[in-house]
Amino acid sequence: MALIGATRKVGVDRQALTDGDKAARDLFTAWCESAGCSVTVDAMGNMFARRPGRDEDLPPVAMASHLDSQPTGGKYDGAYGVLAGLEAVRTLNDAGLQTTAPLEVINWTNEEGARFAPAMISSGVFAGVFEPEYAWARTDPDGVTLGEELDRIGYRGDLAVGDHPLGACFELHIEQGPILEQAQTPVGIVTGVQGMRWYDVVMTGQESHAGPTPMEMRRDALAGSVALLSRIYSLATDRAPAGRATIGELHTGKGSRNTVPGSVSFTVDMRHPVEAELEAMDAGLRAAAAEVATAGRLGHSIDNIWSAAPVAFDEGCIEAVRQAASTVGCTALEVVSGAGHDAVYVSRVAPTSMIFVPCRDGISHNEAEHAEPEDLEAGANVLLHAAMARAGVAG
Ligand code: GLV
Ligand code: MN
Ligand code: MN
Repeated sequence: MALIGATRKVGVDRQALTDGDKAARDLFTAWCESAGCSVTVDAMGNMFARRPGRDEDLPPVAMASHLDSQPTGGKYDGAYGVLAGLEAVRTLNDAGLQTTAPLEVINWTNEEGARFAPAMISSGVFAGVFEPEYAWARTDPDGVTLGEELDRIGYRGDLAVGDHPLGACFELHIEQGPILEQAQTPVGIVTGVQGMRWYDVVMTGQESHAGPTPMEMRRDALAGSVALLSRIYSLATDRAPAGRATIGELHTGKGSRNTVPGSVSFTVDMRHPVEAELEAMDAGLRAAAAEVATAGRLGHSIDNIWSAAPVAFDEGCIEAVRQAASTVGCTALEVVSGAGHDAVYVSRVAPTSMIFVPCRDGISHNEAEHAEPEDLEAGANVLLHAAMARAGVAG
């Protein structure tokens, strides 16, 4: 799978609904069909590869993640959880075992939110958090809509989105942080996910000449932004070790070396496991922006384009993962996810939890992302046993 969209630095650029994503979907379909699954697709392009159970009236137990990537992404973020689900199916085939409830391996569309913001949008539609029309209308930086791209690659499926009960859902993923590696523990029992808020911020000043304009006469949108950015980072560092603030994109319009910037736009990603702290960070961002704008005689706007509250996963699914780790015989640590995952939204409509494995140096959203084969195997075995426990193994 990692050959599709492979980058020169051995990472992956397989952003949502690109030709690479289509090739990944086609390959996933072929692999699932040869493992005896039937593959269906909903109107958000979410893919469901189903292995029948003994009792087809029971809702399926899902093993779900995503095949899309960051622009400079790694091989494991998302793809690991989907392919481990397929491997679990193949393992059951090899062992000649049928589960009581059906199993489904799910590939959610556009988890990353890198090409079409926000993240986790299609599992969000599945869970009833977003309307499909809102999701289809999301645009990429070139103004192409998500819906147009679904049509172009042929993955706007027939199924109504969300009309699809799940008995349980497990998402296996690399941790994307340092905790498991530092603890030398192969498996994380994920009990929840921290909250996240995304913003688009614009600071507006006045373009003027870099030479004749005295510093005190300028209305420099970038100078104001720099002051604001340091205040935003403090919102996180003042809440160490839990707070997070990231400015992942910053644009200064056309930009010219001898023109004072008249407009700067940037993104803000703030996270914290406690909703009240996120609320305080939001208030801090707004207050800091207003003060900086007044001091610099700048205009400003803050658009909170997306929020996801902290999530506590289902106790029954967490316990299934705990038991599975014990069955597989590996040590495991309880952790809260720092990253967002489709499991956040799925947990609103089905009993859900996650399993983590360590990744080297805690690095992810990076082409250098790496995980050790023995950890990947341990995680896949935990996924298999947790799903088997929930689906029941027919006698
Ligand atoms: C998803 O990758 C996130 O932003 O946490
Ligand atoms: Mn992911
Ligand atoms: Mn990611």
